Amino acid sequence: MSDARPQSASGPLERLDDWEESLQSRYPTGHKPKEAFRNYRTEARPSVKEFYRLNHRYQTLDFVLSKKREYLPPRRRRMGVWEAMEFLNTLVDDSDPDTELSQIEHLMQTAEAMRRDDRPRWFILTGLIHDLGKILCLFGEPQWAVVGDTFPVGCAFSDRVAFPEFFADNPDRQIPQYQSPCGIYEEGGGLDRVHLSWGHDEYLSQVVKDHLPEEALYMIRYHSFYAAHREGAYDRLMNDRDRAMFAWVRAFNPYDLYSKAQSRPDVATLRPFYKDLIAEFFPPTLAW
Ligand SMILES: [Fe+2]
Ligand SMILES: [Fe+2]
Repeated sequence: MSDARPQSASGPLERLDDWEESLQSRYPTGHKPKEAFRNYRTEARPSVKEFYRLNHRYQTLDFVLSKKREYLPPRRRRMGVWEAMEFLNTLVDDSDPDTELSQIEHLMQTAEAMRRDDRPRWFILTGLIHDLGKILCLFGEPQWAVVGDTFPVGCAFSDRVAFPEFFADNPDRQIPQYQSPCGIYEEGGGLDRVHLSWGHDEYLSQVVKDHLPEEALYMIRYHSFYAAHREGAYDRLMNDRDRAMFAWVRAFNPYDLYSKAQSRPDVATLRPFYKDLIAEFFPPTLAW
């Protein structure tokens, strides 16, 4: 396997971040969220719709379980966190490098916004690393299995997930056991026992789980679970711990959505600060 060769993420999106930009139009600042949520369908680009169609069609409980067997516990390679950031940066999008930020620049922008708000060091570190799970693309996973809003599988799909009509093509719709609100899960049994659609969130949370506080792990694991943290769906699957911890997921979300500002962070200047921050919490290498 040659990691030096630039690789693109396969799928309908020109850039992996097009999905995140679609979230910004769904959840704009200063607008009534309900109104924006209603309009997102008409505003979404055809490539974003196609992305959701594939994601909702193929993310089944069986698919999620097979990816968990394949990637968990993480064992593909050993890398430090900074090395993983550089590895993610080799992901090639059909974007213009003069106007679009690199993956490292995106991560630093998120972390820098948290730093400006005097967030604690573990919080800033969480911002820096939260999307490193996107290296799944470099392991050959298609876009629909790396990014996208996450949602539980093995129970009824909520219509508060974006483009719920695309769930009609999901084979799990034919399994009677999965059609009730809690499906195969116990009501109030807690999200830890619930399988969410597979992607960069769950994967990264498993890579870093022994090194960050619980709040940070919630932020990483559920940052794309918009149906829950923005729309209030799937409350029945949660326990009281989840409900308390989701305050942190919500505190994290604005930085993720709105940090993609115009200014380009100066990676070379910021590198020493972030390398120190990484070394404060993480060993020199981790299993990915
Ligand atoms: Fe993300
Ligand atoms: Fe992000």
